[in-house]
Amino acid sequence: MPPGGPVALAAVVAHAVRRLAAAGLGEGDEPAREARLLVAAALKLDRLALITQRDRPVDPAAQDVVDGLVARRIAGEPVSRILGRREFWGLDFALGPDTLDPRPDSETVVEAALEATADRADRRLTVVDLGTGTGCLLLAVLSERPNAYGLGIDRAPGAVRIAGQNAFRLHLEAQAGFLVGDWATALAAGAADLVLANPPYIRRDALAGLDWAVRGFDPADALDGGPDGLAAYRSIVADLPRLMRPDGCAVLEIGSDQADAVAEIVNSAGLALAAIRADLAGRNRALVVRHGKKSLVERAKPH
Ligand SMILES: C[S@@+](CC[C@H](N)C(=O)[O-])C[C@H]1O[C@@H](n2cnc3c(N)ncnc32)[C@H](O)[C@@H]1O
Repeated sequence: MPPGGPVALAAVVAHAVRRLAAAGLGEGDEPAREARLLVAAALKLDRLALITQRDRPVDPAAQDVVDGLVARRIAGEPVSRILGRREFWGLDFALGPDTLDPRPDSETVVEAALEATADRADRRLTVVDLGTGTGCLLLAVLSERPNAYGLGIDRAPGAVRIAGQNAFRLHLEAQAGFLVGDWATALAAGAADLVLANPPYIRRDALAGLDWAVRGFDPADALDGGPDGLAAYRSIVADLPRLMRPDGCAVLEIGSDQADAVAEIVNSAGLALAAIRADLAGRNRALVVRHGKKSLVERAKPH
C-alpha cells in the first residue's frame, strides 16, 4: 500500500488483487481468490472476516505484512508455500521446506489404493508409505480406513517431522507412525498389506527446466529420479516381493510417460502389474502391483 495511515480491510484486499492481476498471476477470479488467501493469512483472519469486516481498519505495519506476502507471490512462490499448507483429499496438510507440495494428481494413488483394498475395508490393513513427504498419501488412506494402521518413511528428517505433525492435526496419530529411513530397508519381510509410493521420478537432466514454482520450492530430493527418472522405482520395486504380504499390493505413482518403463521393472522383479490408473486429465498416473508373474492388464496405452 502507498504510505499513510490505517486503511479499510476491503481496500487492502482490492490493492492486493490489483497487484496480482497486474503481475499476470492467473485469470478471471484467480487474483481475487489468491489475494483473499494472502490477506487472511497476513492478518490472521478467517475468510469470513474478509467479507463481514470490510471496514475494519488495517494499520500500516499490518499492510506491510500483506505487501510482503503479495511480493513473494509475484516473485513466483506458490500460494501453498507462502501459507505453508495445502489441501489434499479434502484434508489440510502443513508443508515444510523438506516436503513436496502434494499435487492433486497424487489423489489417483489414494483412489487406486482404496479400490485395490476394497475387499479388506473392514479388516485390519497394514500400510507402508515410502517417501511419505507430508504424509498425504498415507493419512488420506487412513482417514478412509479406520481399521488401517500405517508407517510413513522418508529419508528427510524434516519431512518425517511434518508428517507426524499432520497426523496429529488430522487426529490420525493413533493409526500412523513415521520414521526416517532409506525406502523399506528397515522393515521386516511381509510387513505390508498395502505399499504406497510416490517416489522422485523426474529425469535429472529435466530438473533445470522445471517451472520456478517447482524448482525453487520443492526439495530436490523429492524430484530427482536419477539419470533416467527410474532410479527410485528400481530400488523400491526390487524390495516389494519381500515387503508385501502374499495377498498384498503396492500402488506406485508414475510420471505420465513412465508406465511402460516401470511396468518392465515390475515384471523383471517377478511381480504382476494388476492395473494402470489415469488421473483426471486422463494421463497414466498410478500402477497397482501384486505378487504373481503374469501382468493382468494389457500394455499401457499412451494417452
Ligand atoms: C515425490 S516426493 C512424494 C512425497 C509425498 N508422498 C507426496 O506424494 O506428496 C518423494 C519423497 O521421497 C523421499 N525420498 C527420496 N529418496 C528416498 C529414500 N531413499 N528413502 C526414503 N525416502 C526418500 C523424498 O524426501 C520425498 O519426500
